[in-house]
Amino acid sequence: MQKINLKGRSLLTWLDYSGEEIRYLLELAKKEKLEKGQRKQRFAGISVALLFEKRSTRTRCSFETAVGGEGGHPVFLSTSDIHLGGKETIEDTARVLGRLFDAIEFRGFKQSTVETLAKYSGVPVYNGLTDAYHPTQALADVQTIEENCGPAQGKKLCFVGDGRNNVANSLMVISAKLGMNFTVIAPDTLRPDEELVRRCAPLFKEKNAVCEITADVNAAKGADALYTDVWVSMGEEAKKAERVKLLSPYQVNEALFEKTENRNCVFLHCLPAVRGEEVTAGIIDGQQSRVWDEAENRKHTIKAIMLATLGL
Ligand code: CP
Ligand code: NVA
Repeated sequence: MQKINLKGRSLLTWLDYSGEEIRYLLELAKKEKLEKGQRKQRFAGISVALLFEKRSTRTRCSFETAVGGEGGHPVFLSTSDIHLGGKETIEDTARVLGRLFDAIEFRGFKQSTVETLAKYSGVPVYNGLTDAYHPTQALADVQTIEENCGPAQGKKLCFVGDGRNNVANSLMVISAKLGMNFTVIAPDTLRPDEELVRRCAPLFKEKNAVCEITADVNAAKGADALYTDVWVSMGEEAKKAERVKLLSPYQVNEALFEKTENRNCVFLHCLPAVRGEEVTAGIIDGQQSRVWDEAENRKHTIKAIMLATLGL
């Protein structure tokens, strides 16, 4: 594996990374998975601040166990613990945390918050989910796709549901960078942001890949991976009734899965999932589901990102 120097880099969105850099991180993550269980101390002496405005199981635990499991010091800080954006500006919090920590993870609402943390802290900042993007998730998703389907380039990933959410956005960007065909099946009012689609279009073209956005569930045909996410993301709880009405025809169930016409198609979901809404129990708990591997891969990919950007 050819080493690529990513020391000092933040991960705010995959738009800032080249396809080669993403491939390097995927190779590192693969190696981490093969070596899991080996007791190393690569994070000894390293402190990472974990800032959470929203809840988390997988992301928080992946960062905590990756750092803490190798002798480092992860410090969890929810908005009820620190002054961030309340009594103190984000810029000032960033300046202080940058003096005390080697890196910062942020999960919350605004993409501008994670950008400000990166601008003023002087240390690598990782986007652990904002309203706009969920990049660490997308890397784990590609790792899972490659474990089951081989190299991402030329494969077809199909996202069904809320096509304008953070997970769909990051999947679009990473697909564009890696040359994976990406289909979004969503009602017209939940289509991906036009500006993001416009930015990704030349990247798909450069890699001979296609990005298709449609309301027609028949577009799932030929998918190598079928992906869905909750209909109501964190912070949008008031939209629940509207979303259930809009997205019910887009539930990933046996009938929709059959539209792939691919017996080897795998099912992915970032989790947490609501069985009976975006996916049936039969699919998520069924033979083609890879959601538990996907959840485990969060740790390997997050570890790879930290090792590379901290130069460890
Ligand atoms: N997929 C994901 O980000 O899970 P958590 O919300 O539990 O971190
Ligand atoms: N779109 C979901 C992802 C959760 C991991 C949310 O933002 O709540």
